[in-house]
Amino acid sequence: MTLLKEPDFGTPARTSETTVTVAVDGIDVTVPAGTSVMRAAAEAGVNVPKLCATDSLEAFGSCRLCLVEVDGMRGTPASCTTPCADGMKVSTQTPRLAELRRGVMELYISDHPLDCLTCSANGDCELQDMAGNVGLREVRYGYEGENHLDAAPDLSNPYFDFDPSKCIVCSRCVRACDEVQGTFALTIEGRGFDSKVSAGVGETFMASDCVSCGACVQACPTATLQERSVVELGMPNRSVITTCAYCGVGCSFKAELRGDELVRMVPYKDGGANEGHSCVKGRFAFGYATHPDRVMKPMMRENITDEWREVEWAEAIGYVGRRMREIQTEHGVGSIGGITSSRCTNEEVYVVQKMVRAAFGNNNVDTCARVCHSPTGYGLKQTFGTSAGTQDFKSVDQADVILLIGANPTDGHPVFASRMKQRLRKGAKLIVVDPRRIDLVRTPHIEAAQHLQLAPGTNVAVVNAMAHVVVTEGLADEAFVAERCEDYERWAEFIARPENSPEALEEITGVSAADLRDAARLYAAGPNSAIYYGLGVTEHSQGSTMVMGMANLAMATGNIGHDGVGVNPLRGQNNVQGSCDMGSFPHELPGYRHISDDAVRHVFEDLWGATLLEEPGLRIPNMFDSAIDGTFRALYVQGEDIAQSDPNTQHVTAALSALDLVVVQDLFLNETAKYAHVFLPGTSFLEKDGTFTNAERRINRVRPVMAAATGKQEWEIVCEVAQAMGYPMTYETSSQIMDEIAAVTPTFSGVSFDRLDELGSIQWPCNDAAPEGTPIMHESGFVRGKGRFIETAYVPTQERSTRKFPLILTTGRILSQYNVGAQTRRTENVRWHTEDVLELHPHDAEVRGINDGDTVTLASRVGETTLRAIIADRMPVGVVYTTFHYPVTGANVVTTENSDWATNCPEYKVTAVQVGLKQAVKPVAHGEESQSKAAPVMVD
Ligand code: SF4
Ligand code: SF4
Ligand code: SF4
Ligand code: FES
Repeated sequence: MTLLKEPDFGTPARTSETTVTVAVDGIDVTVPAGTSVMRAAAEAGVNVPKLCATDSLEAFGSCRLCLVEVDGMRGTPASCTTPCADGMKVSTQTPRLAELRRGVMELYISDHPLDCLTCSANGDCELQDMAGNVGLREVRYGYEGENHLDAAPDLSNPYFDFDPSKCIVCSRCVRACDEVQGTFALTIEGRGFDSKVSAGVGETFMASDCVSCGACVQACPTATLQERSVVELGMPNRSVITTCAYCGVGCSFKAELRGDELVRMVPYKDGGANEGHSCVKGRFAFGYATHPDRVMKPMMRENITDEWREVEWAEAIGYVGRRMREIQTEHGVGSIGGITSSRCTNEEVYVVQKMVRAAFGNNNVDTCARVCHSPTGYGLKQTFGTSAGTQDFKSVDQADVILLIGANPTDGHPVFASRMKQRLRKGAKLIVVDPRRIDLVRTPHIEAAQHLQLAPGTNVAVVNAMAHVVVTEGLADEAFVAERCEDYERWAEFIARPENSPEALEEITGVSAADLRDAARLYAAGPNSAIYYGLGVTEHSQGSTMVMGMANLAMATGNIGHDGVGVNPLRGQNNVQGSCDMGSFPHELPGYRHISDDAVRHVFEDLWGATLLEEPGLRIPNMFDSAIDGTFRALYVQGEDIAQSDPNTQHVTAALSALDLVVVQDLFLNETAKYAHVFLPGTSFLEKDGTFTNAERRINRVRPVMAAATGKQEWEIVCEVAQAMGYPMTYETSSQIMDEIAAVTPTFSGVSFDRLDELGSIQWPCNDAAPEGTPIMHESGFVRGKGRFIETAYVPTQERSTRKFPLILTTGRILSQYNVGAQTRRTENVRWHTEDVLELHPHDAEVRGINDGDTVTLASRVGETTLRAIIADRMPVGVVYTTFHYPVTGANVVTTENSDWATNCPEYKVTAVQVGLKQAVKPVAHGEESQSKAAPVMVD
């Protein structure tokens, strides 16, 4: 593919029911009212010269290059700021305009370095293009006057350079930071000739509020803001459209290459999820894919204390197949299992669960969603009938009230956060429910209407109290409930009980009853109220209850089934939605159909030529327990670092150590690989060919940007393992795997690679009833027929603070790092976050004699770790917070095995801990006082 350049229409598209028709250079064009003359001209195929305008930003009208003549209008208006009027006749090319434009360009060029041929942006510079476009041949003023050519560059950011000598002060960067990203890090400082772009007050980009999203670099028409990789490697000459492999937003990018070398990732304007925006991870942190730490050859060893030995693929795969069968012969069919990865493609996940069910002959397959969004799947299925969020991201543009619970989008889902901030700046109201004062509570031009700073573990009490207000104050949407829902009366009687009132729950939740009532009234008033939530909802002992509680609240107020509303999980990993869709849970086949359903099972049996067990298999925590019991003996782990990411590390590593065979398929020798006998090297997202499904159920193509460095696609490895076990599983291409998925999964029946290429992306369900996909779910009826109200009694977690462990630890992530850090720690993102730190309130620090930056011990009843303390007044008293991006800290050494009652999702967000200066805390030995044990297994 050659280098794709998307058209730039100069100003944003407008939507209006009214249209106007104008003639541009004699060509008639009809556009929505409010469209600029510049955009109308571009749509008519006439490109008016421009510098300060670009279609991702509102028009600014500063460069005066886009002047046009309009019949009946005096002067030469700027086409970017002039709206079309019906019947307008516009001329874009006249001798007078040419003269004016040349004059403008002369001024720009007289204060610009004349190094076009050696400039890194040569060939990709709008200033250069415009000089050619207006026919500038000489600069009458010469180059000797006062200029900015000696202005010093700012090279502080590891990913992009700022060279002010090339700046034309068009302000596109400032506006991109304000309008698109919403960080407001840049300003134009000074006036007239002294005007210059400034990050903060005389600060460098790194010292400023900049979050390195790259929007300013994208907007800059010159080489003033330029990717360092372009400076070092040169301009790319071809591009491939693909999908970010970090978070569940699922941003589309143009991977731009020079030959075979990846130069930069440019956010794709037609990307359904991101529409041309990006965050620091997807935009810049791709270097891990070619990091020297990557393992390229399969490796084996007899014992985990032995050195690794490189082997050929055939030996490694043959060994895995043989040992798996031997272990089954000795210990039974159910003694082996597999874990799928939410970082891998749908096709790669599908083949692993198929291998487990058809080749292993059991249902011992689970996925890392077990430890993040499994309660979402359970709760939304029970209430709405399908295990997925209800809206597309665009829907937030129509929300009047946003209820954000247990999520920190500016760090976890940055591109969606920017979209949400745009809506909030336009006047939508925000209610934040979070123990921490996250950035969105108060950020430039945004202030939350309510911050309900609840005690960790009391989500259900808060949502019940909100629903209590809705029901008892007559705020329910009775018509919606009567027409669309069932079991309302019973639920309403339950929720209206005095014990669910804000006043009764105030002491438990720590939220003032008055604030809670205000928040509930605001949400109920809408008119469009949308719930967005994250792991702060699901990773609790009542995670599933809370999901159902939010669904109840949305149904009771009629906030389901159209734009601007809904219940929306912000998914953590890039393909966590997809890994669940693909049948990774032990009780569900692809498409969330229960394994015990004979008719469904027979469809798969017929296609796969295998008999499937009808009983659900083991979940991840059950696999660990069974490994320690000795009944589970071998595990195939696809791309998940369970030894770092799962709770109670000691328990996990004890289980891994007890296994006869651990097979790890991954990019790096991670923490789990320390317990592995066979390592099968995986492919990075740049090499994969398949699809990811994001938080809005959007299936995006992941296209190979380069050949698989290991020589094998990951699905090929899995197929070969299955074959080594005697089960025939072969595909020629990954598109054949998607065809099989579509054949057996009704919600995917209209999906194929060809269709994805045609439509760009597809939100499932996609089938005969919805051939182009389904942006909004439950529009005319719920997937299960009627939306079901379910009683959600608040049950306090067993994890309580005690005299010995008086604080509550809650965990999360930060912008620059991702999950266990395996990818981001191998990029320049470490410049922002070099270690996991513990945030605690000044009061909690003071009573322990802790100063900012001290090394402290963090201990729970299951383990302890050491890290640096940061004193932060955004923490409430009694609550501490950390991330789990670094194995050296191993924050999960302290988290327990308490888990959600329905799904076993770990209760990461509530752990009773003690914190003290490193020397001051008595170490808690492993196992001492431990009351932790895995929650009972529930049949979903
Ligand atoms: S840095 Fe680029 S975008 Fe910003 S004002 Fe200068 S030329 Fe314009
Ligand atoms: S990189 Fe993003 S946050 Fe930083 S200045 Fe540019 S637009 Fe603003
Ligand atoms: S928001 Fe998520 S998907 Fe988008 S670029 Fe950032 S990490 Fe990637
Ligand atoms: S592009 Fe219209 S004034 Fe700059």
